[in-house]
Amino acid sequence: MKITIFGSGYVGLVTGGCLADAGHRVLCVDVDKAKVDALSSGKVAIYEPGLESLIRENLAAGRLQFTADAQQGVNFGELAFIAVGTPSGLDGEADMTFVRAVAEAIGQHMTDYKLVINKSTVPVGTADLVTTIIQRALQERQKHIDFDVCSNPEFLKEGAAIGDFKRAARIIVGTDSDRVEALMRECYAPYNRNRDKMMFMGVRAAELAKYAANAMLATKISFMNEIANIAERLNADVEEVRRGIGSDPRIGYDFIYPGCGYGGSCFPKDVKALNRSAHMAGYHPALLYAVEEVNHRQKQVLYTKLMYALGGPPRDMRIAVWGLAFKPNTDDLREAPSLQLIDQLLAAGAHIQAYDPEAGTACAALYAAASALTICESSHAALQRADALVICTEWPEFRSVDLMVLAQELGRRLVIDGRNVFDPARCAAAGLTYYGIGRAAEV
Ligand code: UGA
Repeated sequence: MKITIFGSGYVGLVTGGCLADAGHRVLCVDVDKAKVDALSSGKVAIYEPGLESLIRENLAAGRLQFTADAQQGVNFGELAFIAVGTPSGLDGEADMTFVRAVAEAIGQHMTDYKLVINKSTVPVGTADLVTTIIQRALQERQKHIDFDVCSNPEFLKEGAAIGDFKRAARIIVGTDSDRVEALMRECYAPYNRNRDKMMFMGVRAAELAKYAANAMLATKISFMNEIANIAERLNADVEEVRRGIGSDPRIGYDFIYPGCGYGGSCFPKDVKALNRSAHMAGYHPALLYAVEEVNHRQKQVLYTKLMYALGGPPRDMRIAVWGLAFKPNTDDLREAPSLQLIDQLLAAGAHIQAYDPEAGTACAALYAAASALTICESSHAALQRADALVICTEWPEFRSVDLMVLAQELGRRLVIDGRNVFDPARCAAAGLTYYGIGRAAEV
């Protein structure tokens, strides 16, 4: 099949790369000419395991191309995926500027049938909006050209995106058209072999399913963080509680890890947008507002614990921060709990020695003006002459660290573990004062 993907960001690149790898001919369109040039020569600016080699292999095989020319993009594929960004706009509403622009371009340039597929996370009703924009553009051109719009939300996780695309748990398509169903089956056939993972449903249900999935996962995390905060005050270990409840298959072990709050480009934005949609529809989503509030509070927990342990603000102290990305295996800092901590530490007059295996450069750029923040080359370098260590992201390399070395390096022998990476008993044995999330009587 010939497929056009509008938007060469995270979702667009993974979709384009994987569909080309499946044997389709794919043209990716992006308004950013510099990005298109870099991608055309096989350079991927995003850190995602396997993505650059996937792009390179498919460029070399001639199945994948990039362009900044929207008209060329519209003319290329029978299928046109919209995978542009939908950032948080006013009042948390998803900003639809880029989606609208792609729909306009399709309406202005199409000359034959198109199946337009909404891949971006978009509010319920977007398929109707895209349909209206294309219809209006066609009317202005006085053309009668057939087209369909369907919803095909993306469920990939950063750090595991290619596997998630190629071995998806489900492929949801919102449509009521047989023609669309046949085309989407053909598009995904290479990744739908062993069992039928395709689910066809109403277009609004598909749009809402994406938000509901992320809101459910965010709810699990906020719920567990709430239990962790209760556990601390009742002197129970939340890690034992987690194992206890996860063993019930109705609850499950996934996404019940307490921590210093969820971040990333999806959960915070999507919960906000869903709340906004519900509010606009005249419904007050009490639970989902609480999910946001708990997460907001949870991001303060690291600094609160540090203050408590030190008996006051860390003015003029050296604080080592391990992990900056919002989760391991990415260099993405968006809405990362580490940023909240860094802001608080800087405001308090602390010196920060931060280390992250991937996100150091991005963090240095973000805090270019902050002379009190040093990005270090290794976890060990970040400990040099530091008073205390705060862990924000559970990169695997932190788990194998020698706790005796930590105790030697840290002036105050203090560890605030925002991801429960260490065993409190082993920390105590090494002479460290340890504060995890939901693990001890201390708050
Ligand atoms: C999330 C969803 O997991 C994907 O299914 C979805 O497709 C994607 O958003 C999206 O909408 O595009 P992602 O943002 O890559 O994926 O990250 P997750 O792995 O879900 O982690 C989100 C945050 O939750 C991280 O900050 C992580 O540290 C936190 N988390 C996760 C916890 O605090 N506890 C947990 O048990 C699990």
